[in-house]
Amino acid sequence: MNLLVIVAVLAAFSVDVAFSRRLFRKILPRNPKDMCRSGDGSSYRGFVSESVTERRCLNWNRFNDPWGASEGLGNHNYCRNPNKSLMPWCRIVRGKKIVREFCDIPKCDTPTTEAPPAVDTELTCGERSERRQNKIVGGSFTPIESHPWVAAIFKGKDFLCGGSLISPCWVVTAAHCFSDSGSTRRVSVYLGKTAINETDADNEQSFAVEKLILHQKYNDTNYDNDIALLKIKGVNGRCAVKSPSTQTVCLPPLHTQLPASFQCSVAGFGNERYFGSYSQYLKQGEVKLISQGDCGSKLHYENLITKNMLCAGSPDWSTDACKGDSGGPLVCEMAGRMFLFGVVSWGEGCARKNKPGVYTQVTNYNKWIATKTGLSKYTSGVMYPHK
Ligand SMILES: *[C@@H]1O[C@H](CO)[C@@H](O)[C@H](O)[C@H]1NC(C)=O
Ligand SMILES: *[C@@H]1O[C@H](CO)[C@@H](O)[C@H](O)[C@H]1NC(C)=O
Ligand SMILES: *[C@@H]1O[C@H](CO)[C@@H](O)[C@H](O)[C@H]1NC(C)=O
Repeated sequence: MNLLVIVAVLAAFSVDVAFSRRLFRKILPRNPKDMCRSGDGSSYRGFVSESVTERRCLNWNRFNDPWGASEGLGNHNYCRNPNKSLMPWCRIVRGKKIVREFCDIPKCDTPTTEAPPAVDTELTCGERSERRQNKIVGGSFTPIESHPWVAAIFKGKDFLCGGSLISPCWVVTAAHCFSDSGSTRRVSVYLGKTAINETDADNEQSFAVEKLILHQKYNDTNYDNDIALLKIKGVNGRCAVKSPSTQTVCLPPLHTQLPASFQCSVAGFGNERYFGSYSQYLKQGEVKLISQGDCGSKLHYENLITKNMLCAGSPDWSTDACKGDSGGPLVCEMAGRMFLFGVVSWGEGCARKNKPGVYTQVTNYNKWIATKTGLSKYTSGVMYPHK
């Protein structure tokens, strides 16, 4: 084909597109994956809700399937292929039985070459698209877009702990969250989640856990080295897809410390009171760092503070991390990016006078994280501003 022919074909094509756009604006698909299926249709997210025998599909939420929002399931009855079956399917009632049937979704004509999903690198961490706060103990509700690195870790259906996404496949959390078992059985990790008891299929991604690494020197008595790593299970080596609700947080360089009184924020789904139930929505609070010396003084925690701990509280003791915030992030902003300085670890009560929150000092673990994960690019702290 010579160039002229190609140009002519392209011209005809664009006239055609322009024409149909004008005429059929309302029915043009937003996105090919909404109208047709490519391959096995596992990326199909359209709205057909009828099986090949024209029976109405049943809502996915009625079943206890191992697949979730990242496979397109949720509170709806559209045909999906969450398990690499031949094509999208759904459950229907036939006779008195619930059975599985395929759906008739047209194949996409041209193989859609979908753009590869966006992925964070060590250079894109710590950015957030939203800073909104409506008015943790004290603190305020916040959309996940303000803390898009927050991971919600579940054991079965129960919320277990928070965590922070540091690279597309790795989450940092607290070792004490797993000290009962150290097992990853039934553990799942959700990213992009604003409410722990609601499924937000558009924004959340869920993962099984491939590996759990507790710090080998974690001390169950004094919470020294209260840090753990979760490797989430990706598909074809891809884990978290970057979006406004899911992004990595930056790691500061080894042994970086910020001055006392520096303002940072803590985020989590934790209790509002010590004897409360979990907050259903992500909250965040502003806290100020307290020097290690001060924190280990008589006024605060005397000799309970090790060199691997970091304290922070609000000056009037109204805001604090609490139960259920465990494992979640204490982040501090530097040059417009958010850096993970602490992992919520322990405290005496919540928001009690002179009893600040105690966090694992993340910058003591850059080498440990690099060794366990191979993420030396991420742990070098390249995005940290240099003096
Ligand atoms: C997909 O899941 C359905 C329902 O559990 C099952 O019947 C079917 O065999 C599965 N297909 C594959 C390929 O795993
Ligand atoms: C989530 O929890 C809140 C508060 O307990 C409740 O009002 C809401 O109905 C729950 N949502 C779902 C989907 O269960
Ligand atoms: C753990 O901490 C307690 C209290 O500080 C200490 O007595 C004990 O020796 C520590 N255990 C290990 C294994 O280091």
